[in-house]
Amino acid sequence: MFFQGTLPPMGRISVQTDVLYIYVFDRPPMKNPTTRPSALFVTCASLLIGCSQTNTPQTSTTVSTATSPSPGASPQGAGAANSAAIPVGVGVAQTSNVALLGQEQVAGAKIAEKYFNDRGGVDGTPIRVVLQDTGGDEQGAINAFNTLINQDKVVGIVGPTLSQQAFGADPIADRAQVPVLAPSNTAKGIPQIGDYVARVSAPVAVVAPNAVKAALKQNPNIKKVAVFFAQNDAFSKSETETFQKTVKEMGLELATVQKFLTTDTDFQSQATNAINVKPDLIIISGLAADGGNLIKQLRELGYKGVIIGGNGLNTSNVFTVCKALCDGVLIAQAYSPEYQNEVNKAFRDAYRAQFKKEPPQFSAQAFTGVQVFVESLKAINAQSKVKDKPLAELRTKLNQQLLIGKYDTPLGEISFTPEGEINQKEFYVARIKMEADGNNGRFEFLK
Ligand code: ALA
Repeated sequence: MFFQGTLPPMGRISVQTDVLYIYVFDRPPMKNPTTRPSALFVTCASLLIGCSQTNTPQTSTTVSTATSPSPGASPQGAGAANSAAIPVGVGVAQTSNVALLGQEQVAGAKIAEKYFNDRGGVDGTPIRVVLQDTGGDEQGAINAFNTLINQDKVVGIVGPTLSQQAFGADPIADRAQVPVLAPSNTAKGIPQIGDYVARVSAPVAVVAPNAVKAALKQNPNIKKVAVFFAQNDAFSKSETETFQKTVKEMGLELATVQKFLTTDTDFQSQATNAINVKPDLIIISGLAADGGNLIKQLRELGYKGVIIGGNGLNTSNVFTVCKALCDGVLIAQAYSPEYQNEVNKAFRDAYRAQFKKEPPQFSAQAFTGVQVFVESLKAINAQSKVKDKPLAELRTKLNQQLLIGKYDTPLGEISFTPEGEINQKEFYVARIKMEADGNNGRFEFLK
């Protein structure tokens, strides 16, 4: 799966015939430009989103062909900045290995843009999703946020993809008084970054324990647990704390804790260490490429017990990495395609029509982020016209408004605490079911 070699431009996804190359760096490229990249091959067949997005422009033109104001333009009202549409920023990973998650977010945001514009946008004024690629590291997220804030003059930002990136980029939006809705940042401490930061992604403390309960239901004889986590990733460090606490609280034995890096590709030593303690359950907190490879290598080394993957592995893009060996992995979910309400039915139908599979959690959360901005803009518009407000005033008003609203979303009914933490009721657990050939799979939701 992995190889070393000379590769085209670093940190980008590129398509060549039917193979998608995602470059995985040994270290963050901004910090060490001399580091040689290794590459993860992922076939287009199972990365339809990634492939189809590669050639699309960075700025959506679904509702407007008007261009963004040039950098350094004088402050204007949101309406004046683009007379055709209200710019809503989406800063997520479209490139790097983190695009395994970020491309699902782009899909969700774009479905939301069309859905809400088809229903009149903000009382007749369309919204325009403005995409900026964060790549997979903190500096990429900071650059994308600065562009969205200063050049694209968005009213608010849905992003970034990783908590690790959020701790770097969100303070910039907070200082600029631009509301941020975190679509997938589930580490402890995200809403506490600042007054302008809220999240539509329920925290690990709420979501992760559900997977351990499901594992015990599947196998009540589980006693010994091995835990793995990516020590260079803020979310993985936060999630493993929750998992380790849950294991102890449930009276299980935490037999070993193994560390790795999200850039690792070889897990033989940690996997062997874990297998040697004979665990009945292995829990992994990492991201999709590393987590998928770890699952694969654990199974190849003969581990037969239950595996739980954390939120960073919650994507069907992991199927291309561990293939048939992904089968049976349990992952807690903050979204179910089966959730019954009107907006989820429309979202699910639109996603299935486009991608021929069930929508994933990352898409649903990005949709929800755009939805919260649209519905909050409508609430503001009912009091005084959004298009007449100076941008700075609108951003502040939007931040205040979104925190007091209630939203019926694909995730169910949600609202926020005054601090910006999501109030969400419904959580689930799914099990990966792979077809025997290892090429296709799906998430089966457990009852
Ligand atoms: N949930 C993961 C994070 O917070 C993607 O970084």
